[in-house]
Order: sequence, then structure tokens, then C-alpha cells
Amino acid sequence: MGLYLPILYGSVRSQRRSIHVARFALERLQRRPGVETRLFDPAELPFGNLIHRSWEWMDAPVEVAQFEAEMVRADGFLVVTPEYNHGYPGTLKNLLDHLFEPWGRKPFAFVGAGGPYGGARAIDGLRLVIPGLKAISIPTMIGVSQVDKSFGPDGPLTDREGWERRFDVLFAELEWYALALQRARQEPAVDSAPTGR
Ligand SMILES: Cc1cc2nc3c(=O)[nH]c(=O)nc-3n(C[C@H](O)[C@H](O)[C@H](O)COP(=O)(O)O)c2cc1C
Repeated sequence: MGLYLPILYGSVRSQRRSIHVARFALERLQRRPGVETRLFDPAELPFGNLIHRSWEWMDAPVEVAQFEAEMVRADGFLVVTPEYNHGYPGTLKNLLDHLFEPWGRKPFAFVGAGGPYGGARAIDGLRLVIPGLKAISIPTMIGVSQVDKSFGPDGPLTDREGWERRFDVLFAELEWYALALQRARQEPAVDSAPTGR
């Protein structure tokens, strides 16, 4: 199959709990046949607030070019995000805003982590952003409720099998869209669509 599906993670908070969900997703996605993945953690990237978009950033750190090259190569994305005040973190939006072309005509899947609603409102907000990137969001999502009680450094604290099953369903759907769009990007784009490159 040959799909590259990087994970974009949304928080740089020092006490962040959703990182446990992102690492569990990484470990699970790495097991999928034909899938290559990697976790991109904004705490390890020199983006910060948006000052330059990548193509305007003349003296950009090498990490910026590397990140862009990886996103160009990607066939789709898994976003793992906490919910902050009924929205997604600015850190995640900054990461997305630095690039444009590499997102185009590729699928995004979402995993939220939060309080009672499992980050659902952060995901709903992101679903409004994705068309601005000329990308698409897939229907299925995962919400991890009360992440401080449900996930730890070794992953789910209860019902590990159930979480594995839910993540596998999400990944299967992301792979389906990623493969379909990988093929479709071989065709000429309509005028308004970026190439994904
Ligand atoms: C600034 C801030 C605002 C938050 N607002 C919400 C919220 O609106 N809804 C919610 O479910 N959880 C909210 N939370 C709780 C986070 O979802 C919770 O901290 C969770 O652990 C995931 O975020 P983390 O990875 O930063 O820990 C908020 C947390 C912070 C730090």
C-alpha cells in the first residue's frame, strides 16, 4: 500500500496529558501494514507564533524545511489535540498556518482529548479550518474523555482492547481516504486545488 501518515500533535503545555494519547496513537499506527508514521511534537519544532509562512521565511531554521518536506511527502494526517476553552490550541493552528500547499487534497483524521466531551469542540473547530487548507476531514473521530483519568504514560488505564479497536477503525478509514486521494492526486487538479506539493 505504501502510505505515510504523520501525527500532528497540538500542545506544548508543560503538564500536558494528551501527549499520552498521541504516543498511544503512534504506537498503534506503527503496527499498521504498509503505513509509515512519525509524531510531530510542536514542543520540538521552532515554529512559535506565525511570523513568516514557510515560503516567506528566508533564514528559516533547517527544521522548518524538514517539516515541510515531510508534510509534502505525507498522504494524510492524524491530528491529536486537547481542547482549550472550547477550541483547539493556538499552537496547532500555528503549525498548520506555516504551510499551505502540502496539506492540499489530503485527508485529516482527528483524535481529541479533554474533559467531559473528549475534545469534541476542538475537533469541530478544526473541521471548519480544514477546507481553508484545501484538505478534507474524514467522518470518524475519537474523543478521549477525562484524559487525566483515562490515559497515562503507558496508554489507556482501562479497556485497552476497546481503545485499540477504536483507533484501528479510525486508522482504517484514514488509510482508505489516503489511498483514494493518493491515486486521485495523479489526476490533474481543478483550478482551485493546491497540488499537495
Ligand atoms: C487553558 C485550558 C483550557 C481548557 N479548557 C477545556 C475545555 O474547554 N473543555 C475541556 O473539555 N477541557 C478543557 N481543558 C482541559 C484539557 O482538555 C485537559 O487539560 C486535558 O488534560 C488535555 O489537555 P493537555 O494535553 O494540555 O493536558 C482545558 C485545559 C487548559 C489548560
